Amino acid sequence: MTDQFAAAARALAATDRGVVSLTGAGVSLASGIPTFRSDDGLWNRYDPVEYGHIEAFKRDPEKVWRMLFDLDEILEQARPNAAHRAIAELEQLGVVTHVLTQNADGLHQRAGSTHVVELHGSNRTLVCLTCDHRRTREEVRGTLTARTAPRCTTCEEVLKPDAVFFGEPLPRQALRDAHDAVERCSTLLVVGTSAEVYPVADLPQLARVAGATIVEVNPEPVLPADHRLAGPAEELLPQLVARIRDTEPHHEEPR
Ligand code: APR
Repeated sequence: MTDQFAAAARALAATDRGVVSLTGAGVSLASGIPTFRSDDGLWNRYDPVEYGHIEAFKRDPEKVWRMLFDLDEILEQARPNAAHRAIAELEQLGVVTHVLTQNADGLHQRAGSTHVVELHGSNRTLVCLTCDHRRTREEVRGTLTARTAPRCTTCEEVLKPDAVFFGEPLPRQALRDAHDAVERCSTLLVVGTSAEVYPVADLPQLARVAGATIVEVNPEPVLPADHRLAGPAEELLPQLVARIRDTEPHHEEPR
């Protein structure tokens, strides 16, 4: 592990084209947000076909909101953890250029990351599927606390969180930005994702083909990575940052 750790720190510190971080639910686990596919994960408690698919929402939005209220209570309590803060610090150090995240919880931004691409949208806004009108989560907070499905002020339809459901396309610009970033980076730092959901699961392979080194941080690594750090992100990332902070100046200005 020590050798792997030193090699991973070097791969992050000594890059000329910068590091892109690709993150998933594992990064937010220490903030109290359960992952999707673990034993006590969301999709083991709620059938994703019945609660996570866009057709399920269109068929019976009130039913899907029963799951969303539970999720919302968790999100309300969540604060950035040491993993989010470490990734934000890597940006401040000029190491990380972009964070590509599948998480819709906004915790990377709250930790201080500024170049965040939300590939699966965001829970901070809600959208009307009929007229495309949007409201912020803050605007409907009272409704959520009362566990009443929030409605559009224009057409009265039930609103959907602006996070991507199964069966929905990913935000096009976000996907384009992600492709551009991984094709240009020297190192892809993949943290806390099972890499099972496409098209995001293709990004590590895309980066590899473009010549990037892959570093993976996950208690159960899943990728054919150059450096696999098996452990929780909230413990390992701060250690990596400390090591990078202590190394000599290592990179050019981020693009
Ligand atoms: N630190 C880092 N990784 C962790 C930690 C931790 N402390 N704890 C668990 N993990 C890892 C797990 O080993 C697993 O590989 O996080 C990963 C979580 O995987 P998933 O639950 O599948 O989450 P994710 O990959 O983000 O899911 C992708 O699926 O349902 C959709 O839209 C949803 O964005 C989500 C997408």
